[in-house]
Amino acid sequence: MSSYVPGLEGVVAAQTAISLVDGANGRLVYRGYVIADLAEEMSFEEVAHLLWYGRLPTRAELDALTLELVGSRALTPAAAATLKALPKDTDPMDVLRSVVSVQGVEHRLSKPTIPLAIHATASFPTILAGFHRRQLGLEPVKPRADLAHAANYLCMLNGKESTPELVRALNTYLVLLADHGMNASTFTARVIASTDSDIASCLVGAIAALKGPAHGGAPSQVMDQLEQIGTPENAEHWMREARKRKVRFMGFGHRVYRTYDPRAKILKAMCERINPTFYALASKVEETALAILHEEHPERPQATNVEFYSAGVLQAIGLPKEFFPPTFAVSRAAGWTAHVLEQVANNRLIRPQSEYIGPELRKPVPLAERG
Ligand SMILES: CC(C)(COP(=O)(O)OP(=O)(O)OC[C@H]1O[C@@H](n2cnc3c(N)ncnc32)[C@H](O)[C@@H]1OP(=O)(O)O)[C@@H](O)C(=O)NCCC(=O)NCCS
Repeated sequence: MSSYVPGLEGVVAAQTAISLVDGANGRLVYRGYVIADLAEEMSFEEVAHLLWYGRLPTRAELDALTLELVGSRALTPAAAATLKALPKDTDPMDVLRSVVSVQGVEHRLSKPTIPLAIHATASFPTILAGFHRRQLGLEPVKPRADLAHAANYLCMLNGKESTPELVRALNTYLVLLADHGMNASTFTARVIASTDSDIASCLVGAIAALKGPAHGGAPSQVMDQLEQIGTPENAEHWMREARKRKVRFMGFGHRVYRTYDPRAKILKAMCERINPTFYALASKVEETALAILHEEHPERPQATNVEFYSAGVLQAIGLPKEFFPPTFAVSRAAGWTAHVLEQVANNRLIRPQSEYIGPELRKPVPLAERG
């Protein structure tokens, strides 16, 4: 009998000490720490240290890591030139994928190391903010050495420092999204790492996997759906009509969580504080979506996923919706690179089997006889 499992659902494809996604209990754990204990207290830098080195940093370790991240923010000449060469209406995910690829060429990145992970992670905000400024017809804003990862990203995007509340919101978002078990983009990165490829190639593959709406492309589509729904009063009608056309509700459902995504819980509370207009519509849409999904399949629990309220948080910090998916990548860069390092530290080529379901053996008919 075939052991094929569509979508590899439930298949254990790696052992990892980096994060645990406990779908049944709605828990996400980074190296032993429950996400709720990290989300609002830790800086993204502390969490990146945790993911890369396996432990929270001491003050001296955090200062050293911060210095290294700050020193790696500027783009290389070829990366900066690529940013300028791409058409202004390029999808920012494609911009990120292309510039990261060019950085790989330039650095001749070979075996993945922590310094290379730091360099890549530090450069993502500079790439995206630089492109955003260009789209607006503005000069890029130089990275600020005195600002932390989240604050510097916002400053490079907007040309001015953001309020502490918005910086905190982005920092929490970056902490929450930094890693998530064997999701599609992380798996992609690990497969590429397992072939002894370089770190830039792993990241390019991961970005490509993240782009799809079934993964990191969802929050911009959450915005599209909310725009179409328009008002809380229209939610029920719009959503019932949408389901007749088999439209999926963006920001709902998950391969692993069968209960409320713990990240969504934190982002929901934050959204209520910093984006009340979004929250008023979104909370009604959420209530309606969950009711309809339950009605359709009471036996198959579907819950709100991280992308739903991410959209409201990212909107509040002033990001256009096209920048939601690559901002997910700004955070996940830490997790991807941690997984790449873990893979190469104990590598075995990832090479599964496929089950052949094609035609029986047959002989080719010469072209002249094929009509
Ligand atoms: C995330 C997602 C891809 C998970 O997919 P999955 O584990 O493969 O789930 P399945 O595709 O097996 O879904 C099982 C069933 O639930 C339904 N379902 C799942 N999510 C749904 C949603 N958001 N809206 C409506 N129905 C949904 C599917 O239609 C499917 O029913 P069917 O077999 O009758 O077609 C899926 O829930 C989805 O497309 N969600 C919307 C996009 C999104 O929010 N992505 C971000 C993920 S963090």
